[in-house]
Amino acid sequence: MSEYLDFAIETAREAGAILRAEFDRPKEISYKGEVDIVTESDRRSEELIVSWIREKYPEHGIVAEEGSGTEATNAKFCWHVDPLDGTTNFAHGYPCFAVSMGLAQDGVPIAGVVFNPVTDEMFTAARGEGAFLNGKRIQVSAVDKLAVSLVATGFPTHQRKRSANMNYYWEFTLRTHGVRRDGAAAMDLCSVACGRFDAFWEFGLKSWDTGAGVLLVEEAGGVVTDLHGGPYRLGGPHVLATNGRVHAEVQEVAAIAERSPARLI
Ligand code: IPD
Ligand code: CA
Ligand code: CA
Repeated sequence: MSEYLDFAIETAREAGAILRAEFDRPKEISYKGEVDIVTESDRRSEELIVSWIREKYPEHGIVAEEGSGTEATNAKFCWHVDPLDGTTNFAHGYPCFAVSMGLAQDGVPIAGVVFNPVTDEMFTAARGEGAFLNGKRIQVSAVDKLAVSLVATGFPTHQRKRSANMNYYWEFTLRTHGVRRDGAAAMDLCSVACGRFDAFWEFGLKSWDTGAGVLLVEEAGGVVTDLHGGPYRLGGPHVLATNGRVHAEVQEVAAIAERSPARLI
């Protein structure tokens, strides 16, 4: 296992160096949707990561956000790669973004790294071996009441007018210390893993957003399910990651939000 993790760490660091170098330069933005943007840096980072995986593990599958992964993803081992999670932040000069690489075996995450090259934070985890931040073991928070929790969520950049998350945002804002919306799902999951956030939920995330982060949360002692408490599978419609202690309470509020009259545009 440590072979995969070491490889992912080295690769994410190198891809992160590309992002770090380009962070200070003017960026050229293209649009994939109404507000769904992509930069040259997303592509350059992905190019490096995919070519390194192909060279080292030619038999592994690759699902990568910008589309340069492998066609067939029924391989036993599959990498889920977000070359730049938090592109909007990156493009606006907001230093909250990361490279995320998760390795799954038969669909189950077994190794993952999330690297923010600005803060130089490297989050790493391997199944059964714990979660770490820059080599130091991390744990979820000990907070056991939603009322004193700091929680986080995110909003999709595609079909945003159809997102019911505004209801959830409303209900949780009234019942917690606050709801953060930091714009990088992989980092949000790491923040749950290291106890900065007590809970995180989001709709419509892809396997490249969560492939590494969900393992980090679990290996840090947290719980990951869908919003109804059912099993979360990579690419599932919604994810809920908490420190475990506030999980049931978060689900209760989520159920209230689900029933509340839609605040959709
Ligand atoms: C996005 C970020 C954001 C989340 C979006 C994702 P990207 O990823 O993780 O926090 O709310 O749903 O698509 O496009 O920056 O890689
Ligand atoms: Ca992403
Ligand atoms: Ca991305």
